[in-house]
Amino acid sequence: MSDGFSLSDALSGGANNPNANPNAQPNPWGNQPGTFPGYPGAFPGPYPGAPGAYPGAPGAYPGAPGAYPGAPQAGGGYPGGPPQPGGFPSAPGMVPPGASGMYPGPGQPPSGGGAQPTAPGFPPSVPSGAPSGPLKVPCDIPLPAGLQPRTLLTIVGTVNPRATCIKVDLKKGNDIALHFNPRFNEDGRKVIVCNTMLHNTWGKEDRTAPRFPFEAGKPFKIQILCEADHLKIAVNDAHLMQYNHRIKELNQINKLCINGDITLTSVTPTTI
Ligand code: GAL
Repeated sequence: MSDGFSLSDALSGGANNPNANPNAQPNPWGNQPGTFPGYPGAFPGPYPGAPGAYPGAPGAYPGAPGAYPGAPQAGGGYPGGPPQPGGFPSAPGMVPPGASGMYPGPGQPPSGGGAQPTAPGFPPSVPSGAPSGPLKVPCDIPLPAGLQPRTLLTIVGTVNPRATCIKVDLKKGNDIALHFNPRFNEDGRKVIVCNTMLHNTWGKEDRTAPRFPFEAGKPFKIQILCEADHLKIAVNDAHLMQYNHRIKELNQINKLCINGDITLTSVTPTTI
């Protein structure tokens, strides 16, 4: 971080962050290294295990051909994130791909073993016989225990070449707690729209995302971290925005639906 722009700034939307959302609530990360006893914390280096290395692909490793060319160098994202496709063998706290509930599965039922960051009580959510390889889009992923503070959802994929939109919805029944909707061409502009749907009615749109980190044809990683009052959303290891909970029954928000113009590589619910 030679330019005086630290990772913690990026993650917290802090004052030194040129991309910081001025409307964002000051709210330090709840998962700084050391905050969670027993959990080693952030990845030390660059974005490990870039998209492009499919989970379960034999021999996939960071830096392999197909590794994310424009990967941020800062590394980090949400500390305690799940293993990336391809793994990152030297990262502290790393678990075998699939061990904490990665979709698609590693080609076999999750063992539940290993040094998992998954908190006790977080149910295994990979159905046995989960497919390996890219996921079909649209993709619905059950979250059997719903959300709770420290639930981290990691979505890895690649934006299609002529993408118009991405949709990531967190649902409670038919209601949508979070609709995260990057639009690539809304009257000629790129914008991220977030909203909540209650009883088939959209609420007030949140268009406060300070930047548009998605690019047609490029890999991406979206991380959604549930905290007590809000969801934090990071893209490509940099904090983007937070969204206050409008549906407060977190444990009833039990489905993750992903749609839009993407190829979906993996979806990993875990608890940090
Ligand atoms: C609507 C759109 C929906 C949803 C909503 C969010 O205009 O049709 O798909 O994105 O905005 O407010």
